[in-house]
Amino acid sequence: MKILFKKGDPLKIKTDCLILGLFETEKLPREIQALDRILNRTISKAIQGKSFKGGLKESFFTFTLGKIEPLSILLIGLGKKEELTIDRLRQAAGISCGEARKNKASKICSLLINIERKGLARDLLAQAAAEGSILSQYRFLQHKTENEKNKKIEEIVFLALHDDKNAKAIANAVDVAKKICDAVVFARDMISQPGNIATPAFLANEARKMASKSGIKSKILDRKNMKDLGMGGLLGVAKGSEEEPKFIILEYWGGNKKDAPLVLVGKGLTFDSGGISIKPSQNMEEMKTDMSGGAAVIGALKAVSDLKLKLNVVGLVPATENMPDGKASKPGDVLATISGKTIEVINTDAEGRLILADALGYAGRYKPSAVIDIATLTGACFIALGRHASGLMGTDKELMDSLVAAGELTGERVWPLPLFDEYTEQIKSDVADMKNTGGRGGGAITAAALLKKFTSYKWAHIDIAGTAWIDDKDKPYIPKGAVGVGVRLFLQFLRDAETRKGK
Ligand code: BES
Ligand code: MN
Ligand code: ZN
Repeated sequence: MKILFKKGDPLKIKTDCLILGLFETEKLPREIQALDRILNRTISKAIQGKSFKGGLKESFFTFTLGKIEPLSILLIGLGKKEELTIDRLRQAAGISCGEARKNKASKICSLLINIERKGLARDLLAQAAAEGSILSQYRFLQHKTENEKNKKIEEIVFLALHDDKNAKAIANAVDVAKKICDAVVFARDMISQPGNIATPAFLANEARKMASKSGIKSKILDRKNMKDLGMGGLLGVAKGSEEEPKFIILEYWGGNKKDAPLVLVGKGLTFDSGGISIKPSQNMEEMKTDMSGGAAVIGALKAVSDLKLKLNVVGLVPATENMPDGKASKPGDVLATISGKTIEVINTDAEGRLILADALGYAGRYKPSAVIDIATLTGACFIALGRHASGLMGTDKELMDSLVAAGELTGERVWPLPLFDEYTEQIKSDVADMKNTGGRGGGAITAAALLKKFTSYKWAHIDIAGTAWIDDKDKPYIPKGAVGVGVRLFLQFLRDAETRKGK
């Protein structure tokens, strides 16, 4: 899909479909009144006939019969102006492109980047409009050999108006959106790949290829390196798999040489069968997405570099399968991690925390300013928050507050869960320093309580078990399947951090 930014007159642009936003109102705004007159009052008639009122997500489509250059127009409802949020605009933009596509448009032109509302920054609104438009059109078709019947949108032109004094800022916002969406698509593609393709080696390769194109330093540790480092958690999980585990290291040094880096850690479990504590077969295929955190980290580093952020950012992704086998780790086994601490494996299906324990221990070597890990860690987090927010836990209030704020802006909302000391009691082991399950209560938190033991820096943990994958129905800018959650959240968080630093 081609993404372009132009300045010009919307009525003179050659396009299959011109997309305009309309707030819920009694009276048409002046620009649309003019268009309405040219189109023989089609719009006002639709409004009078109550088939379209500008309510959020409502839409109205009509052909223009040669009266203007665009072959058709699509009005998309934005709801009440005072209720518009950044994410509502992102959603409306997503729906508008879906509607244009249903009407067989292939080249479209969207004016939604020009939407303004008092109290909301114009560049953030423009960025959101572009993001929603682009991300709504994502499809993963690599393994479909039969022709897809649905027409695809080939080109989106985001059009600013000639006399807009902010056109430069808006052009920049569209460029930022495009780069961030590229990274989201990159992550979604990796997550959508089946486990027989997206192996640890595949992830490592994708990361390495991306790094070499992006001026990022990459290093991939193999089993021997892991042994030398004492990564017993990662090796313990990998033991049952025929696939070689990989520990992916990406380093982006865009800030001052002596500034401590921020480290992002992502769970890269390329298939989670549960291991010896094997999962039920129902929906087990979804466990190919258990590397969504890792994909988010690799994707985020791509965008960090594409946007040339003046920050130091490191990405770490422990990657392995979790499989049952004669050689696999068993319940009762004790694993020694990189930091020397030992973990009793009660349930081999609680493997994410085992590989993250080593990655968090490794992160300490960077003397980081902060560490954020992201993982499809617990079914319990999905039960607690569903598909509409990720779980947030951690040891640093300021860090967590900035993540909540970034979540609000991006629509990738994170919601805090407590991490009281008592939860740590639940993971006491009789034979090792801790055990890898904590009983029925507070499953998302006892998992985080284990991770906490491997942190010696400002730390936040994001559980995306509920938000990484949508299995029921499309969201306005997230088609069913891989979400790529975390990429946009991280980029907002990092760009905010860059702004704070610059001040
Ligand atoms: N990868 C799963 C968590 C998960 C569940 C992600 C559903 C996405 C959707 C994780 O490795 C796991 O199996 N966790 C167990 C932990 C339990 C054995 C303590 C769980 O949540 O059931
Ligand atoms: Mn598991
Ligand atoms: Zn898992």
